[in-house]
Amino acid sequence: MTLMNEDVFKLLTPKKTYFGIGAVKEVREAVKDFNSSDVFIITDKGVIDAGLVAPLTKKLSSTATKISIFDETEPEPRVESIERAVETLEKAEDADLLIAMGGGSVMDTAKCANIVAMNGGSILDYEDGIENPRPIRRLLPFIAIPTTAGTGSEATIWAVFTDTKRKLKTGAADPKLIADVAILDPNVTRTMPPNLTAATGMDALTHAIEAYVSTYANPVTDAFSVQAIKLIAQNLRPAVKDGENMEARTNMILASFMAGSAFSNSSLGIVHAMAEAIGGFYRIPHGITNALMLPHVMEFNFKSNVEKFAKIAELMGEDVKNLDVNQASKKLVSAMKELSKGMKLPQTLREVGLKREDILALVEIAYKWANEEGNPREVSEEQLRELYEKAY
Ligand SMILES: [Fe+2]
Repeated sequence: MTLMNEDVFKLLTPKKTYFGIGAVKEVREAVKDFNSSDVFIITDKGVIDAGLVAPLTKKLSSTATKISIFDETEPEPRVESIERAVETLEKAEDADLLIAMGGGSVMDTAKCANIVAMNGGSILDYEDGIENPRPIRRLLPFIAIPTTAGTGSEATIWAVFTDTKRKLKTGAADPKLIADVAILDPNVTRTMPPNLTAATGMDALTHAIEAYVSTYANPVTDAFSVQAIKLIAQNLRPAVKDGENMEARTNMILASFMAGSAFSNSSLGIVHAMAEAIGGFYRIPHGITNALMLPHVMEFNFKSNVEKFAKIAELMGEDVKNLDVNQASKKLVSAMKELSKGMKLPQTLREVGLKREDILALVEIAYKWANEEGNPREVSEEQLRELYEKAY
């Protein structure tokens, strides 16, 4: 895309990002830069069991005088589990730096705990879109070390949480929530099992595609999106097949970061609106709901930006040059389905336990977000219902 002279866009990314195999060792330098002596680490039991936290604390022991660890993060964190993290962080009253080591749920829990511990109230007071949200005035410096290649949370303005009382997956959004330092080390993604690699990879792919066709896309987010789609097309299957394939792991963590940066600076679309609505009702992994909705939403959106969708097809390795719009759209949709099927991800909402009678309630929630998100085509409630039905 090209910009007109009067167009203005801004770009927000972490202040510093380390990339590459072995990058975790740079944590020492990062901590020194903040003159920190009292470090608080947020992680989960899986990351501890994978043996990733012990080497981290060992590296920190020469710079920090005190290291505290909260490891009770849960997947798709609820308000209650964030409150537990806040309590623990508040007890470590001299903590002057926060490190998150884990997947999206860990990074989001760390962001939410940071907000509440430093600014008071409850995480619900900071929810995006509510009237008079409580301002985020200050935060502990935040280092993110993702152990999955999917969410891109290290690079985003979002902190996602689930309010079970309202059956709502929602979040806080603030530029201050982008990690000050992101450490992207493919070595720490090595232990991710194939199903998690596949699901989180599909989340990253959805980020890149939705950001690319978003009405808020700009030339820089386009560059990130295109590169991310290409890297995921070439490396997700190999990473799922062989977790020790470090070339694939390296490219996937890079793609996840670029896709996160792309959507954080442009927007997401209908896939995420629909997937997050499901996330409020069911504790199904976010990447799986995205993978289930993505092909159907792409088919729905295709005509609204034929040029960009044709480019996505090309990046995914599909030749659609001599096809008409309908044929091209069908080819891309079946390529997406093949990709997720080949990685043994579920293929229908029914398979993951969604109840058909919930669809109307899901439509109502998704509708609120679907047309605010910069999706390239407006969608009605009836069309959302049809999309859920197709995916069912
Ligand atoms: Fe996502």
